[in-house]
Amino acid sequence: MSAINNAGGGGPAVGLAANSWGQGDGPDPLIRHQHGSVGAPVSRIDGPLKVQGRATFAAEFVMEHLTYAALAFSAVAKGRIATLNTSAAAAAPGVVLVMTYKNAPRMKPMPLFMTAEKAAGGDNLPIMQDDKIHWNGQPIALVLAETQEQADFAATLLDVTYQTEPSDTDFEEAKRKGTKPGEFMGEPLKLEIGDAETALKQAAVWIDARYSTPRHNHNAIEPHAATVAWEGDTLVVHDASQAVVHTAWSIGSVFGIDESKVHVTSPYVGGGFGSKTLWQHQVLGAAASKLAGRPVRITLSREGVYRMIGGRAPTEQRVAIGADRDGRFNAIIHTGVVAMSRQNALPEPFILATRGAYQADAFKLDVEVAYLDMLANTFMRAPGEAVGTFGLECAVDELADKLGIDPVELRILNEPAKHPTEGRPFSSRHIVEAWRTGAGRFGWAKRSPKPGAARDGEWLVGMGCATATYPYYRMPGGAARMTLTKDGHVRVEIAAHEMGMGTATAHVQVTADRLGLTLDQVSFGYGDSKMPGAVLAGGSQQTASIGAAIVAAQHALVTELLVLAGNSSPLAGLKPNEVGGLNGGLAELANPTRYESYASILSRAGREQVIVEANAPPPTELQNWSMHSYGAMFCEVRVNPITGETRVNRFLGSFDCGYILNAKTAASQFRGGIIMGLGLALMEEAQFDGRNGRIMNPSLSEYHIPSHMDVPDIDVIWNNIPDPHTPMGARGIGEIGITGTAAAVANAVFNATGKRIRDLPLTLDKLM
Ligand code: MOS
Repeated sequence: MSAINNAGGGGPAVGLAANSWGQGDGPDPLIRHQHGSVGAPVSRIDGPLKVQGRATFAAEFVMEHLTYAALAFSAVAKGRIATLNTSAAAAAPGVVLVMTYKNAPRMKPMPLFMTAEKAAGGDNLPIMQDDKIHWNGQPIALVLAETQEQADFAATLLDVTYQTEPSDTDFEEAKRKGTKPGEFMGEPLKLEIGDAETALKQAAVWIDARYSTPRHNHNAIEPHAATVAWEGDTLVVHDASQAVVHTAWSIGSVFGIDESKVHVTSPYVGGGFGSKTLWQHQVLGAAASKLAGRPVRITLSREGVYRMIGGRAPTEQRVAIGADRDGRFNAIIHTGVVAMSRQNALPEPFILATRGAYQADAFKLDVEVAYLDMLANTFMRAPGEAVGTFGLECAVDELADKLGIDPVELRILNEPAKHPTEGRPFSSRHIVEAWRTGAGRFGWAKRSPKPGAARDGEWLVGMGCATATYPYYRMPGGAARMTLTKDGHVRVEIAAHEMGMGTATAHVQVTADRLGLTLDQVSFGYGDSKMPGAVLAGGSQQTASIGAAIVAAQHALVTELLVLAGNSSPLAGLKPNEVGGLNGGLAELANPTRYESYASILSRAGREQVIVEANAPPPTELQNWSMHSYGAMFCEVRVNPITGETRVNRFLGSFDCGYILNAKTAASQFRGGIIMGLGLALMEEAQFDGRNGRIMNPSLSEYHIPSHMDVPDIDVIWNNIPDPHTPMGARGIGEIGITGTAAAVANAVFNATGKRIRDLPLTLDKLM
């Protein structure tokens, strides 16, 4: 660690970055800075706290007179609560309060996530306001007690009967009733260029196939939890959150109070993946706390997460690709239907990747929605791309087989020069290089194109590949506060999130390099709605958003420091863009001997500290370029023809994601994504009972995710080519590993067995 600690001071001065990445602005100078701590494999700074159990998670905040909540969930999909007898529960030992629709305070529905700037709600239904049931699993009562065990026990004593109404819980029937066009973040999920159906019919070679993916539930290692208290007229919520500011604003809207009266903290999060936004449990906890006049801890059981936290809805996809004899695509069709609840805004957008993946003359893309009475589905682990690349990339593999062209070569042959459906240039796309490097390292040349050609004892061995892709986003709302103290330390504060991916570590590195400090001279504060910015840890965009805010704050800091430095400083007369951070101070870029340390500037000015705050510029880079992360995924499987068992032998991800800020945490994110992709490919499936809308396997003993024995050595490499149009040259890496992976596995299974399984997960019954 000491070599890394000293690294920040040893390199050349790093000049200020352009304040935006719009057309004509130069790339971030940090990406040319080769001697600093950015890029180094620094271990997570929160690691020691976590392994010692000293990192305080949402359900671990200590409060005086704390009470504990347990929830009861509806067992029917639609109807009314006919009777709800709470007397036995209320009389049980330790019970403080039983809350139902009869005594819950009046509250507004949550603003739906992604439908307004700071909206964070998972659904927009009334929360315990009336006797209506909207889904099987809806919270119908909350029991508050002196201990968790007393609350859990008392909740079993609730006596409820229902008056059921006819419900739409069967996907087939819902489709027959008619579908509606899907809309994703205000845009229709529909795109037509040319006449793709006619072009397909005229194609020399074509594939036209149906793919399906099941319902998935979120399974963060830390189930959802919050510890809440009303302190005067302020509501304090210690939450497990990927959106603290959004949550504060949204809870404020529910209770009719200003967002400044809601203080949300989230110092540590045991995984979010799209699920750690605002759901009914935080609101119910706050409501119960209000009624009881005591702080409340509400922790969902694993089953509770399945009942009331949305996941990924099932998709049915048609993918058709037409090509000439040489393999050039003339038509790409990707259409289909997803299930969706009426109380949310996310039709699983499986066509997103297809819009920009390959060159073709004609496109037809369309997501239709069939409504079900079910738990609101939501954003989950690369929504759209994770399951959309399964259909698309399996179809490309099927076409390659028909054409007799190597699937890697077929992809490279159809590589677009600019975005094929939007027409914009790519900010940086080096996917061909990722394919070539990955293929060489994986030993792709050893693969036989003939299925079933390779064996290892009784096991059939096969190799498959697929493209991974996920967009670069940078949402508006980034802002940061920087506090430089006389001892030369800087603290950065931003209402961002650390969910275990290494955010705090990477941004300590970024700040240290920009300012010319060592890592131990920088601290990074986050996870608190009172801090600047409204940053979402989602869409793989948090790093870009934080980076842009740090750049803006550094501009403000350097501007102020040069004023404070005054005429007697060696820096006198220099402009902000003529200096850079070096060795704990500022130096002239052209002549680093003109230098003054931060400590010296502050002490001459008689200042203990300098505090600046700045907003990140709007994300204009997204208007000028088509911006995405890419990867080439390679998989080797062994399939047992007798048992149907598939074992993933080897996996390689070769990534083109811009400049990598921390080699260790990045590799971990890539691997984690790929492991989730393996679960998607081989085991994950929420069993939904179409008769009553109930999820039937609400536990990790029945809903299978990869365990250590299911995960082989995963090799991850990246080309580290900086994107000139992003802060730090970096693009998102959080979700891309989940994309392409399932297709690479399915394509490898085909290569091993000659069987095309187009329906996930690839369980053994489908292979026998
Ligand atoms: Mo993610 S599904 O953008 O947390």
